[in-house]
Amino acid sequence: MKFFLDSAHVDEIDYALTMWDIDGITTNPRHVQVSGKPFLTVIREIADLVAGTEKPVSVEVNPHLDDSAIMVAEGEKLAAMSENFVIKLPATEAGFKAVADLADLGIRSNLTLVFSAAQALQAMRMGAYFVSPFIGWKEANGEEIFSFVSDVMSIRDIYAYDTEVIVAAVRNARQIIDAGILGADIVTAGLGVYKDAFSHPYTADGLKKFQSFWDQTAYE
Ligand code: E4P
Repeated sequence: MKFFLDSAHVDEIDYALTMWDIDGITTNPRHVQVSGKPFLTVIREIADLVAGTEKPVSVEVNPHLDDSAIMVAEGEKLAAMSENFVIKLPATEAGFKAVADLADLGIRSNLTLVFSAAQALQAMRMGAYFVSPFIGWKEANGEEIFSFVSDVMSIRDIYAYDTEVIVAAVRNARQIIDAGILGADIVTAGLGVYKDAFSHPYTADGLKKFQSFWDQTAYE
């Protein structure tokens, strides 16, 4: 399973690339706003960080757009900026149509804001490169997420669609594990989620104990 970093913070992305060889980046309007930089500036900086690699960077079109032709035009403009860019589009009527039109132009897309397996299926049918079921938002709304992801994976596998599934809005290690058990291709999560997931209090406690034994032992 691949790990993508969900961030538009250049320092975080640099850290995740250097320390974890993260497999890709996902951004969204919230992450860009939090970066404190203009949209085009920050996505250019992220493109520079992954230039010369195959690591995809999902960049989202203006979320006000509701016309597929305008989405496609914006997608073409963004895709021309970097070979790494994958165009993030909302799971709306216009978004699905834009996915198909961008696919015809050889431009990859990532269907975002996916909250039902039916939406995911339509994204796959229309030729999405990635589809992003949002589990954190659903769980926060009291909805069940294990069967949601399981349904998306089953549909993808039964029909052998080429689309890769990014389990998105991941909040903790348990959700990463669940995504892995269900055979998700990718999870995307924030830096803090990965840091927490890669550590364990017993590891820190155990290390302290071993340090104490080490200090009480002669070396030669
Ligand atoms: C995924 O591609 C999204 O950017 C992300 O997971 C959205 O959720 P969040 O910003 O609430 O984590």
